Amino acid sequence: MFDPKDYPDLLVGIGDPDDAAVWRLDDQRALVVTTDFFTPVVDTPYEYGAIAATNSLSDVYAMGGKPFLALNVAALPPDLPPEIGAEILRGGAEKCREAGVVVAGGHTIQDKEPKFGLVVLGFVEYGKMMTKGGLRAGDVLVLTKPLGFGVTTTALKRGMTTPEEIDEVIAWMSRLNAGAGALANEFGLRGATDITGFSLLGHAYEMAKASRVGLRFHFNQIPFVSGALKYAEQWVFPGGSSDNSLFYSQFVRFAAEIDEMRQMLLFDAQTSGGLLMAVPQEKLSAFLSRAAGTNQPAWVIGEAVDGDGIDVDSL
Ligand code: CO
Ligand code: CO
Repeated sequence: MFDPKDYPDLLVGIGDPDDAAVWRLDDQRALVVTTDFFTPVVDTPYEYGAIAATNSLSDVYAMGGKPFLALNVAALPPDLPPEIGAEILRGGAEKCREAGVVVAGGHTIQDKEPKFGLVVLGFVEYGKMMTKGGLRAGDVLVLTKPLGFGVTTTALKRGMTTPEEIDEVIAWMSRLNAGAGALANEFGLRGATDITGFSLLGHAYEMAKASRVGLRFHFNQIPFVSGALKYAEQWVFPGGSSDNSLFYSQFVRFAAEIDEMRQMLLFDAQTSGGLLMAVPQEKLSAFLSRAAGTNQPAWVIGEAVDGDGIDVDSL
């Protein structure tokens, strides 16, 4: 329907799916445009708004860009007390302010189930742009937030979680990927995405395919929030995690000792997860010490290799 040839300034958008559309402005810069919204993941409206905003902004950071302008996208039930709706929007607006982004309006409709998110605009310099296709064999895979948000928030919905476990996942989900994006810019990284609904392995597969490389992950180096394993044992995964497993398993080879529960943790649908970035081997030690010096969490969890698909071993 849309032929890329007809839109030479659209650098990313038609074709392989990426985190955001990118539109060339001039010799130096391009516009990054994205939107995301979802139903509540936590019980508290302010935190829900903050998490939804963090997640929407994340796709701009995942492209190597810096967001500057946002619009609210909201659907609220007609019988919802107005102060709850206001808290959701306030959570989103304060997170945008923290990111240096202005919320300049938006649109709200009525709907049975609440939905909230943002349309976000950002700028990216050409030399700083990151895509899912930017990985090279030999690159090291670095993840900037732990996994297990899906299984933990599903446990919350079933009344199983402790307040500490919920505080922990809320803190991670409402943590901006701005620091991770800045670090990627500083080191000139070219390959990245953010880990959201399609899980670590689903998003990793998109990268492997777009970059024409294989990816290898080391299970014992992958970080998880503290309740993840416990709730995985009780199999309280959200529906999205089962969908991910059904669809992406065909592209993944697990070492025999990684049981089904641990496999599912890598298919767990995340909300507002971290960036998965490809760091060239020769930049890795400087990258990691800079991350440590800026309080930016960064876990080395695997590498890109010649080949295709994904291997997960238990190293
Ligand atoms: Co994304
Ligand atoms: Co998205």
